[in-house]
Amino acid sequence: MSNELTLQKPSGAAAGSGAPLLSIKGVEKHFPVLDGFLFKRQVGAVHAVDGVDLEVFGSESVGLVGESGCGKSTLGRLVTRLLEPTGGEIRYNGQDITHASRKELAPIRSEIQMIFQDPYSSLNPRHTVGAIIGAPMEINGINPKGGVQRRVQELLETVGLNPEHYNRFPHEFSGGQRQRIGVARALSLNPKLIVADEPVSALDVSIQAQVVNLLQELQRELGIAFLFIAHDLSVVRHFSQRVAVMYLGKIVEIADRKSLYEAPRHPYTHALLSAVPEADPDDNRERIRLTGDVPSPLNPPSGCRFRTRCWKAQEKCSVEEPPLVQLSGNVAGHLTACHFPEEGSTAAVPEPRAEV
Ligand SMILES: Nc1ncnc2c1ncn2[C@@H]1O[C@H](COP(=O)(O)OP(=O)(O)OP(=O)(O)O)[C@@H](O)[C@H]1O
Ligand code: SF4
Ligand SMILES: [Mg+2]
Repeated sequence: MSNELTLQKPSGAAAGSGAPLLSIKGVEKHFPVLDGFLFKRQVGAVHAVDGVDLEVFGSESVGLVGESGCGKSTLGRLVTRLLEPTGGEIRYNGQDITHASRKELAPIRSEIQMIFQDPYSSLNPRHTVGAIIGAPMEINGINPKGGVQRRVQELLETVGLNPEHYNRFPHEFSGGQRQRIGVARALSLNPKLIVADEPVSALDVSIQAQVVNLLQELQRELGIAFLFIAHDLSVVRHFSQRVAVMYLGKIVEIADRKSLYEAPRHPYTHALLSAVPEADPDDNRERIRLTGDVPSPLNPPSGCRFRTRCWKAQEKCSVEEPPLVQLSGNVAGHLTACHFPEEGSTAAVPEPRAEV
């Protein structure tokens, strides 16, 4: 990174030690479903996020993975308080922000930033890059040393763009470059936590690794904590120290990277891992093909939500919801929600040769 000295390193606790930077407990988001022409009445609710516990420590990257519609973006928006939770508790740096008002949130708004999936729609096409990256400073009344323009140019350099391109418009940049602009904007207020919602999935595969590498560099050098949302376990593998797997509004497994990839205990994690393509042509590990669709979050299955697609499901799975707990034999912090967990075979998912 060219000008790391111009960005302040946050003073959060080291990954996994001390108090968490972000702590969420039993968080729920139920979107009401309304019916009726004139007099709208609620006829149901989409259980997008349905009781999630998660902690992110300072300087740590946590990956959040799951199929489309499982509630990842909703959880990201709850964390950044773009959405108001239906239930549960969200704490940032020890402060309860679950229902904090705009005014109460103002002092921490700058510390929690979001990077969005689509670098085309998330940048205003009528604004110059300088105006886009400088906007958070203007809005928050921050006048950095040397002025906003200089700071924007430093940020452009930090994310690998030409500082001379300050006056250009988003359409003059490629998809990967636009995502770098989004990253520069997120960095402008020296955040402590960035929620990156599928930041590379809209980009060409060939440039995904470059943007992931940039984010990884920022995480390491500036000590920014990340909640990195992805569909795919292969994207977060090299980026996240811990990974949480989500299914239909709930976290079904969470563990440090090594334990999750080498010894998955939840059948769903195992299935997701077996779908990750391998570089090794001789790879003959067991493949699990997930059948059926994800059930509707309007009416999630009783007991274990994965039971309608699980090849190991038994009667108990439909009547008793499995708690997210540390199973015997697992390392500390590896939690799984399953009545009949997998053995946890290291042979199932060998370390790929290529990075990201
Ligand atoms: N504003 C909303 N009103 C009603 N339902 C919503 C709203 N936002 C999301 N949902 C629903 O909540 C569920 C979770 O959506 P969410 O966007 O969080 O999933 P996701 O895991 O991010 O999916 P993807 O991988 O496709 O981005 C989905 O069923 C979605 O249709
Ligand atoms: S609790 Fe039952 S249905 Fe759910 S994942 Fe475990 S074995 Fe499958
Ligand atoms: Mg999403």
